[in-house]
Amino acid sequence: FSLKPYNTFGVEAKAKYFVEVHSIEELKDALKFSNANTLSLLFLGGGSNILFTKYFDGLAIKLSLKGISEKNLNDNEVLVTAKAGENWHEFVLFCLNKNLGGLENLSLIPGNVGTSPMQNIGAYGTEIKDIFVDCKVLNLETLEVETFDIEKCRFGYRDSIFKQEGKGKYVILEVSFRLTKENHAIKTEYGAIKSELENLGIENPTIQDVSKAVINIRQSKLPDPKVTGNAGSFFKNPTVPLAQFEELKQKFENIQGYPNGEFVKVPAGWLIEQSGWKGKQIGNVASHQLQSLVIINATGNATGQEIFDFSTEIINSVKEKFGIELEREVNII
Ligand code: EPU
Repeated sequence: FSLKPYNTFGVEAKAKYFVEVHSIEELKDALKFSNANTLSLLFLGGGSNILFTKYFDGLAIKLSLKGISEKNLNDNEVLVTAKAGENWHEFVLFCLNKNLGGLENLSLIPGNVGTSPMQNIGAYGTEIKDIFVDCKVLNLETLEVETFDIEKCRFGYRDSIFKQEGKGKYVILEVSFRLTKENHAIKTEYGAIKSELENLGIENPTIQDVSKAVINIRQSKLPDPKVTGNAGSFFKNPTVPLAQFEELKQKFENIQGYPNGEFVKVPAGWLIEQSGWKGKQIGNVASHQLQSLVIINATGNATGQEIFDFSTEIINSVKEKFGIELEREVNII
């Protein structure tokens, strides 16, 4: 069964079995089938953070549970719950249409609601942990539904329990967010948003204006996966100890860094660009010319292995030049 339509890199990869599930019952049936046949499992959300490098000898399950519900919390807040298979950006637009605030900075992020907690998706000054209340998950061992609140999720930068101890143990079924009805907390500190709002001539932005600004910024430098296969940032921005950053600063005076306690977060895009990779193409794979942190399937014919090898070369170059080891953000299968 071809998984090509189910990954935004658009690489060809086959799975032995595939099923799309629309409810918990269908999901449980699929799990019974995999148990009975001792198959390994692969869960697919929007396919926007995954790279297939080979044949998957098991059961791939596409999670397509749909539905959005709302519950009033108080005069100014509402709890909005979306099922895992809802497309993230459509969910954001749905909330913006109802003038519900909190998700606007996260406009146009590819993927589905169900995978948003896995890596605590974040952009332009917001992470989902800022509005997250809890998520319901299916425990794959007990087949019981459990609730994970914000503490239990242990969110970090592009990180959560679902990428650590909880890896492979749970399937996220739905996610709840606390959104505002009025008195929205408008977040425009992120430099790019400020200048885009200025470009648009907007002084007192609404949540819809912030969303528009974010959409413009993303469209101006991130490739549209429908046109050019990619999975957004391929690497995480690395964190280095303050002392190491000071040493690097001696050698590379333009190096940028965002201090965070005893550590400094360095933009991987800058490191990659300085290592000569921006816009560089090898065979079917390239680093995006406007944002080198994004690896693209430049010809549409790349294999997963080619993309993986390209990313290894970037890691080696950056390591050699800066002594920093980049970590992949994308899940490699
Ligand atoms: N930069 C370069 N060269 C490049 C790319 C970036 O020098 O080729 C520099 C920029 O000039 C800027 C800095 O690096 O000073 C940061 O760049 P940018 O604002 O584009 O953000 P980023 O750190 O590269 C992160 C997220 C993005 C998110 C943006 C905006 C990670 C791994 N990526 O990128 O998330 O949209 O911030 O908040 O944290 C994603 O995860 O798929 C993703 C796109």
